[in-house]
Amino acid sequence: MDKFVINGGKPLVGSVCVPRSKNSILPILASCVLCRETVTLHDCPHFSDIDNMLELLSILGAKIEKGHKNIHIDCKNITNCTLPDDLSKQIRSSIFLLGPLVARFGCARVSYPGGCEIGARPIDLHLKGLKALGTKIDEKYGKIDCYAHKLVGADIHLDYPSVGATENIMMAGVLATGTTRIFNSAKEPEIVDLQNFINSMGGKIMGAGTDTIVIEGVGNLHSTEYTPIPDRIIAGTYLLAGAMCGGDILIKNVDYAHIYSLLTKFKDAGFDLNIKDDNIRLRAGREKKSFGKIDTMPYPGFPTDLQAQTLALQCVSNGVCVVTENLFETRFKHVPELIKMGANIITKDRTAIVTGVKDLYGADVSATDLRAGSALVMAGIYAHGQTTISNVHNIDRGYESIEKVFNALGADIKRV
Ligand code: UD1
Repeated sequence: MDKFVINGGKPLVGSVCVPRSKNSILPILASCVLCRETVTLHDCPHFSDIDNMLELLSILGAKIEKGHKNIHIDCKNITNCTLPDDLSKQIRSSIFLLGPLVARFGCARVSYPGGCEIGARPIDLHLKGLKALGTKIDEKYGKIDCYAHKLVGADIHLDYPSVGATENIMMAGVLATGTTRIFNSAKEPEIVDLQNFINSMGGKIMGAGTDTIVIEGVGNLHSTEYTPIPDRIIAGTYLLAGAMCGGDILIKNVDYAHIYSLLTKFKDAGFDLNIKDDNIRLRAGREKKSFGKIDTMPYPGFPTDLQAQTLALQCVSNGVCVVTENLFETRFKHVPELIKMGANIITKDRTAIVTGVKDLYGADVSATDLRAGSALVMAGIYAHGQTTISNVHNIDRGYESIEKVFNALGADIKRV
């Protein structure tokens, strides 16, 4: 298992380009199952979550061709609707395949994805939506068997605006007969991207980005070429790293509207930000003001996927910040690791109270999950001395060679 060894204390200077969004690409790949013709996705990054999803698709019988940045997916000859136990347990996004498989083939079998480091992550809303469209679901011994003679559009009200459930129901509704309406749907930019992608194949989805999505079922989809949106979480990570470590960074290929909640916090704390077209320049010294309060919420609220990185910045900002994690019940695994590095943080239930300190010090820490890992990389670049981060595979799930990106900006990170 790879580790990172970081020699800290370096500012970040230079420019960096944001790759395409992992959380857009994963459901987009799943929705390729709906189409009998070849789909080409442009400019895709190399994240292990994406590779794993491609492996799942090829196990189902899809033909995958990967170029340097483009992926061609041909799902014409899918022969298998059962996802292997080990992979589907390991890869949470396997659940995205339920909707498309049932919609096209009338059956699907996956293992229950189970909990993970950030919380229990139930899938009841996914299943409730598929049932409403006419799927019979049999849950036994950790396996989910889905059958449907024919999916028929329905009105579905989500108790919570779950991103994954909204996407699964959208994908199932595309090949259902009649109209499906999702009320209290998630409004994340990745949902809009999925709508745009499916519509580029001839789907008829409207309303993504609002709390009501309407899907008119169509008989067939056709081939398409598509470029997914930039990754707003990576854009946010780079900005937060620049703010934490000090320096002058230019971040390219950002849709600033997607990270407005974060940019507002930067502005309120008096950071020097310059936004022009799809570029953001941030200049920061070592002295900075705390954000005061962070509450994670569904989009357009503050993203839970930036909570760990923001908390890392608060560790070295003047003042106190109260961070409340409202989405995932155990998403503070980075806190004990940051405390090892000298941070002053007290947690109670879903709240962390962070009192800024001037210095952090290198320590041996573990990347317990993807975003916790990127927060520790930021802390390691800031800290005095040497930091070793284990379980780097968790970071590779959603960042492509993060060490190379930060080294190009002046950090000193070795993968060993
Ligand atoms: C997606 C993102 C993830 C992000 C999260 C919230 C992808 C691949 N992942 O995850 O990075 O952190 O959105 O922005 O896009 N819930 C239920 N029942 C369900 C489904 C969800 O109770 O059936 C709960 C979850 O436990 C959680 C909350 O709803 O507390 C939000 O989860 P959800 O929006 O579904 O997140 P994901 O789609 O899993």
